[in-house]
Amino acid sequence: MKRDNSLSAVIQSLREVIADARPGDRLPSVRELLQEHRVSPKTVERAFAQLASEGLIEPRPGQGTFVRPPAADRAKEADFSWQSAALGSARGDDGVMQALTTLPPAGSLVLSMGYLPPELQPTDLLASALRQVATRSELWDRLPVEGLESLRGWFAREVGRGAVFTPNDVIIYPGGQAAIASTFRALVPPGRPVLVETPTYTGAISAARAAGLELVPVPMDEHGARPGLLADAFRRTGARVFYSQPTFSNPSGAVMPPTRRAAILAAVAEARAFVIEDDWARDFNLANAAPEPLAVTDRDGHVIYIRSLAKSAAPALRVAAVMARGAALARLKAMRGCDDFFVSGPLQAAALSAVTAPAWKRHLQKARAALVERRDTLVSALKSELGDRIAFRVPQGGMHLWIRLPDHISDTGLAAEMARQGVVVGPGRAWFPADPDGSFLRLTFAGTTATLVEGAKRLGGAIRKES
Ligand SMILES: Cc1ncc(COP(=O)(O)O)c(C=O)c1O
Repeated sequence: MKRDNSLSAVIQSLREVIADARPGDRLPSVRELLQEHRVSPKTVERAFAQLASEGLIEPRPGQGTFVRPPAADRAKEADFSWQSAALGSARGDDGVMQALTTLPPAGSLVLSMGYLPPELQPTDLLASALRQVATRSELWDRLPVEGLESLRGWFAREVGRGAVFTPNDVIIYPGGQAAIASTFRALVPPGRPVLVETPTYTGAISAARAAGLELVPVPMDEHGARPGLLADAFRRTGARVFYSQPTFSNPSGAVMPPTRRAAILAAVAEARAFVIEDDWARDFNLANAAPEPLAVTDRDGHVIYIRSLAKSAAPALRVAAVMARGAALARLKAMRGCDDFFVSGPLQAAALSAVTAPAWKRHLQKARAALVERRDTLVSALKSELGDRIAFRVPQGGMHLWIRLPDHISDTGLAAEMARQGVVVGPGRAWFPADPDGSFLRLTFAGTTATLVEGAKRLGGAIRKES
């Protein structure tokens, strides 16, 4: 008791000294305080520790203890300008990922977003799955880098008929973005080329740039990447990896028909290369228009196959899988361990519990039905607002419309104007690895009818004004 009183007395007296002092003044020494208060050195030490933790004083070894300036002055004094010189130019940071990951302002009409909106997310199912697994102590322990075997088995079976993958060929990742970024780093050395469709997923473009890779665009038509140009690009650049979305490509919605798939696989095999198949929208096949994955017909390990549950369920279900065979699998596993060891056990187990529950199929059916209805709502709202001022194909899956604007309208200018009007749209150039071949907008049709109709109305007004 006595000790506590003496500690408070020392702290109080130091507070008074600090209050009268100026920043940088030296405080009484330990010896002076011992004499003044007749306390133990430990008590003085504890008093100093307390005031240092409050940011009031600063010990300088060998010199004594000094009064610190108030926080506001410290912030004013801080000079971070040296950091830009120390860091040099930023790799991969073109502001695009920041735009993609910034949450929309509250109350805005969101017409560009890659996930199901809250009312279509299976929140109850996910919550009860998490509750079910939360007390399983083995899930809180260390897990293998590649993830839970039961979840890996589920992903392997999802590839479908004639599935080439066993659970041992599957690695679990914290989402599709992490899967793409880690796969690039594992398979392509910095400075080397990676082929990508143009246009393609912004996050893949940024991940390739961040990994120091050279992006080589492969042009598409309405049936996906063009095999002849892919073969040329392999020959010209010596690239060994091609990132592709053969099914409901984000942003264009293109689907490769079976003959195109065979031609693409032949070009990849001829180049002794890999294709990373990002099958992000397999669960949003809205009109039975999705051929089986490239992975199903791959015999010799050319296809690296990616599926994510964040798209199918909710953005925070950060669980995805990469499937591969041969040396590529070992490289991926090694990189996965470097990244962050393994995905949280309870989240993996909850994901498995959710996707194997009967309610999962009902959730997907409900989401697909809503997406069909919402797509048609946006399509007819845009047609009645804008007629043939804009051009687009109606996608048979996924959740995006890819809109061609009149050439004289700038995509970024229009997106900025829409933001001023409270509508979030995606300016098309972010989806081009190089040389946009026109002015485009990406619109997502997953939002509510009210959002889509009002968003289309404001967009229609802005485009008409510029026509
Ligand atoms: C084509 C594509 N692949 C992958 C991702 C990554 O999604 P997630 O990391 O949430 O699984 C996205 C997200 O927008 C996407 O559009």
